[in-house]
Amino acid sequence: MQQTVAESAAKPAEPEQPELGPTGRPWPKLPDIPPVQAGGTATIIAMCNQKGGVGKTTTTINLGAALVELGRKVLLVDFDPQGSLSVGLGVNPHNLELSIYNLLLSRDVTVDEVIAPTTVEGLDILPSNIDLSAAELQLVSEVAREQTLLRVLEKVTGSYDVILIDCAPSLGLLTINALTAADKVVVPLECEFFALRGVALLTDTIEKVQERLNPKLEMLGILGTMYDPRTLHSREVLERVVQAFGDTVFHTVIRRTIKFPETTVAGEPITTYASDSPGAQAYRMLAREVLARCLVG
Ligand SMILES: Nc1ncnc2c1ncn2[C@@H]1O[C@H](COP(=O)(O)OP(=O)(O)OP(=O)(O)O)[C@@H](O)[C@H]1O
Ligand SMILES: [Mg+2]
Repeated sequence: MQQTVAESAAKPAEPEQPELGPTGRPWPKLPDIPPVQAGGTATIIAMCNQKGGVGKTTTTINLGAALVELGRKVLLVDFDPQGSLSVGLGVNPHNLELSIYNLLLSRDVTVDEVIAPTTVEGLDILPSNIDLSAAELQLVSEVAREQTLLRVLEKVTGSYDVILIDCAPSLGLLTINALTAADKVVVPLECEFFALRGVALLTDTIEKVQERLNPKLEMLGILGTMYDPRTLHSREVLERVVQAFGDTVFHTVIRRTIKFPETTVAGEPITTYASDSPGAQAYRMLAREVLARCLVG
């Protein structure tokens, strides 16, 4: 029997399926960007994973630059003796007269002497170089050695909205210092086979720091990086990460693209190097998620 026009018009419309993001969950509706709070103190976020090459430095630089686009004043802290964050922002670590190392170990250097501007207005850096590797040993004999970075950053929390700390690939004393100074921690995970190896040790370390040194520390989120949606493998790893960590996983996922290594050579963030690229858009989306979570958390 044929349906009349009136009958088909009366048929209830199919419920609209929400669009699923790469993590298999519907994209959330993010709140409007909150205005900057005048006279506030910076939220300190540590980028942490003891596994090397997972995108900690890339995320610190590009999340920082994307937060600046949202009107935030951002300080990036290079807390890795490799100095990759400094290099990625065009600072030559070999030529530094003063670095974060001097701030940690000598009292007569002020933080303003070490902070340097970057090519992006509103984005500053506390650079580091290989000297920092000595700090790990030298700090051992200091009083309240785990709070050394916190004491340095306390002096500038009034001047920034967000401070991002780029950790080294280790769970040594430097990383413990970063976690002790931080309000939140972000864990980048490469969407590769061994991604989840060592994550239990990392979460255990974060919990110990919460219990013993820094009760305000919170896990802000897990970020899938170097994702390749064309490979089943990458999709499966991301699925497992979401199964294991649920809504802790950011909806934003960073895809693998040659643009990121290129930005390191250029010494600038992807948001200025390739402003319209999907990589730049992804970090902008992450910045919005981070601000939304900081409001809730
Ligand atoms: N989404 C991506 N796609 C492709 N390459 C990437 C991506 N993210 C980072 N890379 C590249 O992978 C390498 C490692 O990234 P990055 O330095 O950010 O990792 P890391 O976790 O900071 O490493 P380390 O543990 O050594 O500090 C760099 O050469 C970087 O340019
Ligand atoms: Mg790094």
